[in-house]
Amino acid sequence: MTAEEAISLCRKLAGYTEEPGHITRTFLSGPMHDVHRELTSRMQRLGMTVMVDAVGNLRGFYPAQNQTAPRLLIGSHLDTVPRAGAFDGVLGVVMGLALVESLGGKRLPFGIEVIGFSEEEGVRFGFPFLGSRALAGSLDASCLERRDANGVSVADAIRSFGLDHAQVPEAALPKDARAYLEFHIEQGPELESRGLPLGVVEQIVGQSRLIFCFTGKAGHAGTTPMRLRQDALAGAADWIGFVEGHALSVPGLVATVGYLEAQPNAGNVIAGMVRASLDVRHADDALRHLAVQQLVEGAQRIAKARRLQVAWEQRLDQSAVAMDASLVTRLSASVKAAGFPVFTMPSGAGHDAMIVAGRVPSAMLFVRSPGGLSHHPDEDVLQADVAAALKAGLHFIENWGGNLD
Ligand code: HGY
Ligand code: MN
Ligand code: MN
Repeated sequence: MTAEEAISLCRKLAGYTEEPGHITRTFLSGPMHDVHRELTSRMQRLGMTVMVDAVGNLRGFYPAQNQTAPRLLIGSHLDTVPRAGAFDGVLGVVMGLALVESLGGKRLPFGIEVIGFSEEEGVRFGFPFLGSRALAGSLDASCLERRDANGVSVADAIRSFGLDHAQVPEAALPKDARAYLEFHIEQGPELESRGLPLGVVEQIVGQSRLIFCFTGKAGHAGTTPMRLRQDALAGAADWIGFVEGHALSVPGLVATVGYLEAQPNAGNVIAGMVRASLDVRHADDALRHLAVQQLVEGAQRIAKARRLQVAWEQRLDQSAVAMDASLVTRLSASVKAAGFPVFTMPSGAGHDAMIVAGRVPSAMLFVRSPGGLSHHPDEDVLQADVAAALKAGLHFIENWGGNLD
């Protein structure tokens, strides 16, 4: 598979969407069946055995020269954020297929398992990494009871996709897995600003995700005097400005309120209740936790001043994760051998690699994001950069003996 074919496959898969005209594919929604069908037939043509595990991860295995050999995992996620681009996640799965295809039937001293994770973004159920957590054996049973906006539980969603959630333990990592490699778009401006095609990830920053609920008193927009209002939306707006100002004041901190739901959400009604998300990230976990605490205190201060109530729920507290040093060295050597400059960098975005790294040594190779754009329909890649990643990836699999030195 050439870089051009890999890119067009990503664009084809982008057509399998819940929202015609946009790229939206959440956990085990209908279009995921189409993606599985498309990738399964390609995997089978490559001599791979294919299965879908109990949380909907698509798993294709390309056997080694012998039965007792270890395996290398290559994967990323197949779900998307709403109105996404065509490459976030999917490119990493397609790269796995392209590398297997580039072997032309040759068997290696290790097997290759290409994994398309069912859920990394956390859109449908409000917590991320469902697929990779099942693989890592860290998906606790309570997650199965989480419900989406329509009251459907994770277990229901698994059942309606034709899977059996009782089999979740079977999804865990095979014992012979020795390493995990994830190709992914950078999703930021770093590589482009340096004129580089590829980046080797050293560390994935930690992230906190919370949901806040501001409660005031709904009322008539026309008859309620300003000074008598307990306006939940005005309070949330105050706090959102505080969140942005605080993040601007702390080097290396990013904090985002990306989701806002006002009730009753009518133009002539003072909002009685507002739910708002908070996403906080920093390379240093202690500074991230301090920032979360300060943003909670800010919400309490603003709520008190406005006679509102405020409550919050922590949805994710994911520590920063370092990639495996010897894999970083190997991957850097492959980038160099492929003829490209070696640049190591942190990842501001979260990735399945940060979950899988808890079980097997993991590494990531970034591909430049034109315009630094991602989680946006105009998200793109350059063909030459995908070709560079394929060349480095092929060098890596042809020189990784299957055990970690
Ligand atoms: O939100 C993230 O960091 C990633 O895109 N899942
Ligand atoms: Mn993403
Ligand atoms: Mn991603």
